[in-house]
Amino acid sequence: MIDFKDMKSIMITGGAGFIGSHVVRLFVNKYPDYRIINVDKLTYAGNLENLRDIENCPNYRFVKADICDFDTIYALMQEEQVTGVIHLAAESHVDRSIKDPFTFARTNVMGTLSMLQAAKLYWETRENKYEGCRFYHISTDEVYGALELTHPEGIDSPFTTTASSALHHHAYGEKFFTEDLKYMPHSPYSASKASSDHFVRAFHDTYGMPTIVTNCSNNYGPYQFPEKLIPLFINNIRHRKPLPVYGKGENVRDWLYVEDHARAIDLIFHKGQVAETYNIGGFNEWKNIDIIKVVIATVDRILGREEGADMDLITYVTDRAGHDMRYAIDSRKLQRELGWEPSLQFEEGIERTVRWYLDHQEWMDRITSGEYERYYEDMYKNR
Ligand code: NAD
Ligand code: TYD
Repeated sequence: MIDFKDMKSIMITGGAGFIGSHVVRLFVNKYPDYRIINVDKLTYAGNLENLRDIENCPNYRFVKADICDFDTIYALMQEEQVTGVIHLAAESHVDRSIKDPFTFARTNVMGTLSMLQAAKLYWETRENKYEGCRFYHISTDEVYGALELTHPEGIDSPFTTTASSALHHHAYGEKFFTEDLKYMPHSPYSASKASSDHFVRAFHDTYGMPTIVTNCSNNYGPYQFPEKLIPLFINNIRHRKPLPVYGKGENVRDWLYVEDHARAIDLIFHKGQVAETYNIGGFNEWKNIDIIKVVIATVDRILGREEGADMDLITYVTDRAGHDMRYAIDSRKLQRELGWEPSLQFEEGIERTVRWYLDHQEWMDRITSGEYERYYEDMYKNR
């Protein structure tokens, strides 16, 4: 375990994005003695509005920078004497990766390599070198490829947690993603994340850098960019716009509430074993079409519409190219070794999520109008 008395400055990359903003908020509020440096390029997916509640905290600094810009990252690590890195910055949307794989290779592969090299070279200048340091890389379960849907009607899930869903507790096959599985990425997104994971492990194995990798399932919750299934559909239902369901809607994803992921990241950053991999999941598999129906029913109920009134918005469209059939995480290693499990039942998580988007229509409107990209431009222009 790391000696955290030396841990002063933590660089969190991608902190203006969906998961990153929850991690930054958690660390800034929970650890007043740490200095949290949020490094984000503010791509289309980065939005500083996600952090407005903590932006003036004395232990927080935002720096607009590209993780591929090695010189800037190295200089910042030196200036802030960074000893911890939590690396979330990435291009994260599969559909975009199908249209523009180069951007994914640049940011996810070269950007991660630039972060690793900057941390390595800076840490090697320290008197104690890697002692008290940690490079934590956040990755995805999509690197493992796709599981088969051997039980389309669902079987009882073999896993139970204190938060197991009362509404639905199904698995759609016998196999699950475990940490020892071979990588078999299919999309340019997952291929780029797989490659970045390999580089992180290579830096441990070659240079002895204290690294950790975690692979998490699909997250949902507040502040997710509305190109992803759940926020996109909540917004479309609100405006009674069509809901584009890819293929037959039979694909299965394992959903985890984003704050539970942030809690896992906190725990693993502090207590995880160097060089280890941990899978993080919700024990919560859903077919897309079933989750869409739950979202429609929840939005309709909260908006006072007749329940199910918007089911006719479901519109089946051409399937995503290479669409992975099923993702399902076995996160018992994390449960067993560090005592983590999801805290929230899916019913509660989805209720909170739908309410949050409906209550934050202005946040959504500023994104859909593109206004958010100009929002802080002047404020950070010269930093
Ligand atoms: P996101 O797209 O919402 O946010 C990504 C953030 O990274 C944005 O703020 C963006 O501005 C920033 N960024 C992009 N390119 C950058 C660059 N070159 N330099 C600096 N900053 C840059 O993504 P997310 O959904 O919050 O995902 C965060 C991380 O978690 C990613 O690494 C992703 O692969 C991983 N992950 C996501 C999920 C999920 O369900 N969303 C699941 C498992 C793992
Ligand atoms: P997404 O939120 O893009 O996450 P990922 O592709 O990383 O799992 O998509 C979740 C699932 O929903 C995935 O199976 C694709 C499907 N989907 C649709 O059917 N329609 C949509 O408009 C979107 C964005 C996704």
